[in-house]
Amino acid sequence: MLSNLIGDRARAVGLPAVKRAAGVVTRLLPIPQPTLLVGPGASARLGQAVAGFGHRRVLIVTDEVIARLGLLAPLADALAAGGTPFSIFDRVAPDAPIPVVEQGIDFFAREDCDAVVAFGGGSVIDAAKVIALAAANGRQPRSLVGYFRGLHGPAPLYAVPTTAGTGSEVTVAAVISDPVNERKLVIADTRIVPKMAALDPLLMTGLPKPVTAATGMDALTHAVEAYLGYWNTAFSDRMALSAVSMIFENLPIAYNDGANVAAREKMALASTYAGLAFTRANVGNVHAIAHQLGAKYHTPHGLANAIMLPQVLRFSAPEVTGRLATLALRARAGNEGEPEAVLAERFLAAVDALAASVGIPKTLEALRERDIPALAEAACWEADTGYPVPRRMSQEDCEAMLRAVLPEEAPAQPAGPTRKAAKRRAAVKKRPSGKAAGRGGKAG
Ligand SMILES: [Fe+2]
Repeated sequence: MLSNLIGDRARAVGLPAVKRAAGVVTRLLPIPQPTLLVGPGASARLGQAVAGFGHRRVLIVTDEVIARLGLLAPLADALAAGGTPFSIFDRVAPDAPIPVVEQGIDFFAREDCDAVVAFGGGSVIDAAKVIALAAANGRQPRSLVGYFRGLHGPAPLYAVPTTAGTGSEVTVAAVISDPVNERKLVIADTRIVPKMAALDPLLMTGLPKPVTAATGMDALTHAVEAYLGYWNTAFSDRMALSAVSMIFENLPIAYNDGANVAAREKMALASTYAGLAFTRANVGNVHAIAHQLGAKYHTPHGLANAIMLPQVLRFSAPEVTGRLATLALRARAGNEGEPEAVLAERFLAAVDALAASVGIPKTLEALRERDIPALAEAACWEADTGYPVPRRMSQEDCEAMLRAVLPEEAPAQPAGPTRKAAKRRAAVKKRPSGKAAGRGGKAG
């Protein structure tokens, strides 16, 4: 397979060196930040502001559920009161499939729009980013995959997240999906950061528990991976650590008492802080694996991250003990003065406990042994070529982490592989938390 060959070569020529160089570039790259409107009623305030900008017609990009629940009303009323016409495209589906994004681009042109408000979760915001960029460049989404592929910046773009997790309202990337090839594709451009974002907790009080849990754990993963990766900066560290504190404190409250506006607002802010951290410092092995699970099984992104996070943290721990110790203190999982190794272990236990407290399973129901080699290959490729991970995973490492989350009772499989898989899983459980360091850890 060509990707195999390229992957082997990439590993051989020392991609970490290339990625370190890329990290220097990302440190210097100016990344714009949206004006943030925060608090109950922020979506109406965003509507008032956008109405003042004099757009010809605004396209509101959303999904059917949000439209049906009436969550758009405060924004729509504010636009109407300000005399700004708008059209609503409510067909965005999970993972922002390319055909749907293409429909949105056509709709933008047909309705003669000149600005976009993204109103929804991560898939909606990502779809809206691509619609705005594609429309401004007269291009189709596939031709924009990669970095800075558009000649022009997007149509003016504003965002109202309705979940607290993706951080897409502040990031330079949009992830869309190619349903034919079961692949997720990334479009990255600093110009697709929205100009303004409203964090309105009132839009989040009705979120179902599994969505609150999965999106909250996605935000935690962004913060943790940004903090542990080697593209981190003083700014991304500050954002990541704040997000970790807020998530450990508020996610269980938001999960158990969805109507708690203060906890919802803190989670919305934490998600945005985590987004600011990872849009600078990037993510890592958890996301590399989760993207493959999402593409193959349509596992919700946050759930896939939440299930993989404990495995990857245990794998990475020997390289980043000191940083995990700091995370433990910020998560209030340990006490100042305790040995680093003890604190690091406390953080791993705290992540396990947080995940359990919000109903995250330890295994991924959809995962099948027969798919693991290809999933691991794709995940290693993504991590090797894109992410400044604290510890590089080999094909074997990644397969072991995936086998550790195999469901206990997978449907009938040929006897040989099943026994073999069980043996491998037993081996994984016995395996020490990690092997010798590759990178001279920056914090360990
Ligand atoms: Fe994520």
